Amino acid sequence: MEIVFPDIPLYRGWGAPLRVESDIRGLELIEGAIPADLNGTWYRAGPDRQYPPMTGEDIFIDGEGMVHRIHFDNGHVDYRSRWVRTRRFELQEQARRSLFGRYRNRYTSDPSVRDVSMGTANTNAIYHGGKLLVLKEDDLPYQCDPVTLDTIGPWDFEGAVTAQALSAHPKIDWHRNELLTYSHQARGDGTTDMAFYIMNADGKVDHEVWFHAPYPGVVHDFAVTDTHVIFPFFPLITDLNHLKEGGTFYRWYPNEKAHFAVMPRRGTADQIQWFSGPACSAGHMMNAFNEGSQLHLDIVLYDGNCFPFFPSIDNSPCEPCPPLLTRLSFDLAAGRDDYERRVICQVPGEMPRTDDRFQGKPYNYGFMICGRKEDGTSGIGRVDPQTGALSIWHPGPASACQEPQFVPRSLDAPEGDGYLLTIVNRLDQNRSDIAILDARDFERGPVALLKLPVRVRSTFHGTWVPQSVLANGRFEW
Ligand SMILES: [Fe+2]
Repeated sequence: MEIVFPDIPLYRGWGAPLRVESDIRGLELIEGAIPADLNGTWYRAGPDRQYPPMTGEDIFIDGEGMVHRIHFDNGHVDYRSRWVRTRRFELQEQARRSLFGRYRNRYTSDPSVRDVSMGTANTNAIYHGGKLLVLKEDDLPYQCDPVTLDTIGPWDFEGAVTAQALSAHPKIDWHRNELLTYSHQARGDGTTDMAFYIMNADGKVDHEVWFHAPYPGVVHDFAVTDTHVIFPFFPLITDLNHLKEGGTFYRWYPNEKAHFAVMPRRGTADQIQWFSGPACSAGHMMNAFNEGSQLHLDIVLYDGNCFPFFPSIDNSPCEPCPPLLTRLSFDLAAGRDDYERRVICQVPGEMPRTDDRFQGKPYNYGFMICGRKEDGTSGIGRVDPQTGALSIWHPGPASACQEPQFVPRSLDAPEGDGYLLTIVNRLDQNRSDIAILDARDFERGPVALLKLPVRVRSTFHGTWVPQSVLANGRFEW
């Protein structure tokens, strides 16, 4: 069968399928100097297109996982990318064509693979318990070698995880060396089962809670504080009968509410407090923290459907709604089931990150992609979550930024003292750069700019792992 990708907007320009695994030992320096105290590995994951889609259509969150390793070693920077060889990837490689159909709809797949996971391992890469895990929310993590990126296989934590999948947005607590994660639709497509897990520093499950969601909706990310976890439920809902008819995995239900489950970190299902409000949606949380009896959740909120390629249940058109960093405040002592809502920053932004040492704690620095324009260009914003004050760095003409990554100067450096890394898409040069910014001297531009002669097509999320953590398997304070 000929390999011919359809002429769809997703595959034009920067989004053209790349299908290349790369190895570059020593990236070229374009300007500045690589900081000598930047030592560790930055892992990222994103989708690429292995073969033309079965259905002739595609959405940007689908596609086979490519994991990326950018390794900083005393002024040298090496780059490697590898396909994550999921079961799905290998079956398609053997068949030399796509076998899996519409996004997360197994009923549209080739009959020979309907019982095989549709997971693509394309969303995030984390490092915990000495293991590199590449994630997609409808599958178990795939373990890959942290140096070669060779795929080792799916990882169920020695059988301790019985949920069918784990989130692509777990939280790693740098202070307790814990991995906190969850599963939505944990017993299969369209189920309301939720599972929550805490893995200890050795990667062993040592806390597990099961509960039911109000509906089988999207739960792409969650948030933790020092005392609690917060699960959001937005009315992009899965209907198994609709899937069997060949429909989309989610549909938008504008008349359903958004719900939030708040549970003590080491609590039980009967301790969950529920809050609800009007329909809204979000992919990503920036942070959450405690203030007295209140929990504040800073979230990139859409006042409507954040995924316009998932249609409304009543076929009403998807109204554009900008992603705005918003603070939702839940009072655990007030005996109410509603919450306060305040927009922090009126400038749209996405892919929010923090100094990871301050996840779950009061914080002063947030980072996100900002200033995205129709022509595909964008910059990086640094926001003060208390005041909403925003500084934006633009990478220059015909350029866009991928999700930023903060790197602390040392484990005990003050909050925000360190570097900000981003992959820059040079849209008119069919290649990428890596920009290293001083996170507190942001507006001056990169302290170093490194050239990637290849296009890093798209990466969603990633993780910085300090060299000492790669060596020891844990944070040692
Ligand atoms: Fe995400």
